[in-house]
Amino acid sequence: MGRRFRGQSLRDETIGAIAASLPGADRVFREFGLNFCCEGKLLLAEAAARRALSVEEIEHRLTVCRTVERFSKGTAEQDTGPLIQHIVQRYHRAHRLGFPELARLSRHVEAVHAAHASVPCGLAVTLENAFEALDEHMHDEEQTLFPAMLRRRHGPFVPDLIAVLTHEHLGVGSLLQRLRFMTNAFTPPPDACRSWRLLYSGLAALVDDLQDHVHLENNVLFPRFVAV
Ligand SMILES: [Fe+2]
Ligand SMILES: [Fe+2]
Repeated sequence: MGRRFRGQSLRDETIGAIAASLPGADRVFREFGLNFCCEGKLLLAEAAARRALSVEEIEHRLTVCRTVERFSKGTAEQDTGPLIQHIVQRYHRAHRLGFPELARLSRHVEAVHAAHASVPCGLAVTLENAFEALDEHMHDEEQTLFPAMLRRRHGPFVPDLIAVLTHEHLGVGSLLQRLRFMTNAFTPPPDACRSWRLLYSGLAALVDDLQDHVHLENNVLFPRFVAV
């Protein structure tokens, strides 16, 4: 799959397909603030235009990835069984550990620094509510969708469920924007205490994990079970 972009313009490809096929493209997209997980169906040219970015500059950066592409083998090439196992063990597990822990830390920071102008007011509640929805979503994947995929059950049931879960992924995109806004893009104020700094660095890592997780499902795993 990785070779399909050689010699053709990347701007006419979807950012989800590029992220799934070009090792390192996800880092470039993160750097430019392109939401390749939830908006993976946008063409690179459209995604750049939406954010008033130079598509030439992004293409140039991606070209560097393209030259090293042959040296790495991505998760996108894994078989379905190991890929599902990787998603559950690496990402579902990390979210179940990370969200409650960061919500607790946020409650502490919000209480101790309530009078500070930059306090992330409401962050703990945002994390708790988001985790409640995400945990239910992951449960549906683990109990229903993934077993059906592993049993290779086709028919309308799997694509219908994929449509529902893909729609739920849009909530992750909104959450990422909200977290970024509430935390000044995960930048603590200069006088922030250690807990506050830990909270923001933990959130930045959580957001990276969320993007990778949704990207692997939306752009790599799910398309294997949906007719084009
Ligand atoms: Fe998942
Ligand atoms: Fe999911």
